Amino acid sequence: MGKKLQIFIFMFLIAALAFFILPQEIKAQRWCNLCAMDLQKYYRTKYILTLNDGSKKYTCSIHCAAIIIGAEKVQKIEAADYMTGNMTDAGKAYYLTGSDIRGVMSMTSKLAFAKKAEALAFQKEHGGKLTDFNSALNAVKIDMAKDIKMLKQKVKNLIKLGKAVAEANSCLACHGTDGKGGIINPGSAAGYVPAWNRVEFAEDIRSKAQLKKIILEGFTKNEENKKSGALKMPAWKSFIKGKELHALVNYVWSLRQAN
Ligand code: HEC
Repeated sequence: MGKKLQIFIFMFLIAALAFFILPQEIKAQRWCNLCAMDLQKYYRTKYILTLNDGSKKYTCSIHCAAIIIGAEKVQKIEAADYMTGNMTDAGKAYYLTGSDIRGVMSMTSKLAFAKKAEALAFQKEHGGKLTDFNSALNAVKIDMAKDIKMLKQKVKNLIKLGKAVAEANSCLACHGTDGKGGIINPGSAAGYVPAWNRVEFAEDIRSKAQLKKIILEGFTKNEENKKSGALKMPAWKSFIKGKELHALVNYVWSLRQAN
């Protein structure tokens, strides 16, 4: 066999392997649609909601899922099996609430298990109460006020860190002090670098997840800007990651004026 062919087959096998090993949905959607947390990190507590119009929402936790379920028409709910991260029918899963495992977006965890025997074995080690989906959802509702208070404090700390991240990465050199007024940008359609508190910004950026994507990949709004010699929004994926990225997103989001 020729060497080139061998290399080709080898590369093909690697690609095929990666395709099957990486959970498909994570490739499709990396960030929680509500809070923008990393679904690669929270793959064991993740939810996928299929709305009546066929579109899908991805969340890091039953907490964020419950908020979407309360606001949208949802036709299908899948929960990650805590043991494997594989998606399973949420309505048929077994739930362990209040074990010694830390909650995601909540002070009390509510973990889903595809298999009852595994849920029971896990309960022996970690305590908690075995229950069904509706009771787990109800527990989310009972905890909601307390958790939102806890999360508000968390976001406050993230905003503080995010401001420091923005300052350290020269975001403000282009977007202005507190992101409230960009420098002039000749050749661009707007004529200046956009501020983060404009109405147009709120129109462009609908979710924290979308904001995260824009910061990572860069952003050029229209063809005019692409072609011109105007300043472009750089891609930051090689520079800002993990908690710092999440903090930055929360900071920029905090300046957003909802319309
Ligand atoms: C070199 C200047 C420059 C730097 C540095 C810069 N940006 Fe930008 N940014 C831009 C420009 C120009 C645009 C507008 C692009 C367009 O509309 O085509 C933009 C757009 C954006 C948008 C979309 C705004 C909207 O109204 O749609 C976000 C969000 C953003 N930047 C965040 C950031 C963050 C966060 C940082 C720091 C990590 C940063 N930018 C650093 C120039 C910059």
